[in-house]
Amino acid sequence: METIAIGCDEAAYNLKVAIIKHLGTLGIRCDDFGAAAGEVILYPDVAFKVADAVAAGKYKRAILVCGTGLGMCICANKVPGVRAAVCHDPFSAERARMSNNAQILCMGERVIGVELAKKIVDIWLAAEFSEKSHSQPKVQRIAELEQEHCKR
Ligand code: RB5
Repeated sequence: METIAIGCDEAAYNLKVAIIKHLGTLGIRCDDFGAAAGEVILYPDVAFKVADAVAAGKYKRAILVCGTGLGMCICANKVPGVRAAVCHDPFSAERARMSNNAQILCMGERVIGVELAKKIVDIWLAAEFSEKSHSQPKVQRIAELEQEHCKR
């Protein structure tokens, strides 16, 4: 499995560390975009860095965590080409890949327990988007409308 980019703010530092450790036990490496332990950081600064790296093709997948997952997700989705999704249940985690081809998984440490978060990471990593699926034209349409919108 390719290296995964990961980032957090101070509200989700512990969840980030737990996910990095969990992925390490599976032999999956993470590139950590911060925050560092004890560092107070504005979540948009982390989210845009990680999302930019994904949009540039440096990472196929990334994980962003904050208090709720929402702020990170809002920011990441502002970067053209990025599809980020907040998933706090297994079904959404699977569909975020299979229906939406989401490259970035977002979660909130104030919302979800560590064990469920690890399970969600596993499901999200295992699920693959198929270019042949009925979801492909919809994901393609996101890209088309995004491009049109960016030209305005
Ligand atoms: C804390 O700054 C909190 O607002 C943040 O972690 C996140 O939940 C925002 O969406």
